[in-house]
Order: sequence, then C-alpha cells, then structure tokens
Amino acid sequence: MVEIKDKADVKFSEAAQKEIERYISHYPADRKKSALLPVLHIAQAEFGGWVSPAVQDKVAEILGIEPIEVYEVSTFYTMFNLKPVGKHVLEVCRTGPCMLRGADQLIEHIENRIGCKVGETSPDGMFTLKTVECLAACGMGPMLQIQEKYYENLDTESMDKLLDDLRKQ
Ligand code: FES
Repeated sequence: MVEIKDKADVKFSEAAQKEIERYISHYPADRKKSALLPVLHIAQAEFGGWVSPAVQDKVAEILGIEPIEVYEVSTFYTMFNLKPVGKHVLEVCRTGPCMLRGADQLIEHIENRIGCKVGETSPDGMFTLKTVECLAACGMGPMLQIQEKYYENLDTESMDKLLDDLRKQ
C-alpha cells in the first residue's frame, strides 16, 4: 500500500464517514475529542491497519483538535500501529502471568517460524509481531490477540497450526 503523505489526500469511505459522525454525535459539539479512540480505530481499519502521520492529521482536523493531541494517544496505546504492518498482526501478551506460563518461549518460537523479531514484519508480509501488556486473559496464557480475537493456552504445536491457518486465509 502506498503511504498517503498529505492529510488533504486522506479520504474516508462513505461508511467510515457515517460511523465517525455517529461517534462524534455522542458528545457535545465542543467535546469532539472524546471520540478520538473510536475514530482512530476506524482510521486504522480504513488505511491498511496503521495510522500514518497524514491519517492522524486528518483525524485531528475532523475532531477539531491539534495533531499532537492525536499523536499523544496513538503513541501511548499499543493497539495503534504507527508504521505499515503485515496482513496479520500478532499481539502477544508479555506480562507476568503469561510469562510464567511460557510467553517468552512462545515469542521465540513465533520469531523463528515467521522469520522476524518483535516489532518487525515477516519478509513475506504476512505477519507483524508485537508484544503487549496484559490482555485480561491471564488464566489462559500464554495468549495472543489478532484483531478482536483471542487465542489462548498456546503452545508450540497450537501456535504452528494457527500460523498455518492464517497463511491460508
Ligand atoms: S498476563 Fe497475559 S493476559 Fe494477563
């Protein structure tokens, strides 16, 4: 996907625009910033799974806020990707309970299987590997999230099967 460099070239689909307006309508006119998180999610889904500076500038314009107010949120939350990502983004929990149940070994196994390190995208463009803090499935670790879906109680065997299934999609 070609990166859009200027916010003037950032065009949301009609459906996304409607969804953005719906979220903004939940708040008083002078509190549009309150819709920032859902609007960023919509923007990320619209533009290839990540939010470029131009896309974030457009979000700021839509909400009537300064770009820095968008950047300080997008850089805080790990669910927003600030550079291009692979087809599937693997977000592996690395917090204590999952670590105790083998998250470290799982991460190393994934790195070996997809051919890249944490924070990188695999050479075939299929996977981006990220580590994140607790995803509130601590009793089912080690676990990871792909979009809205959780995969729990993972081991090397179930992880291999998951990667194979994802490659076929
Ligand atoms: S520690 Fe991994 S989900 Fe909570």
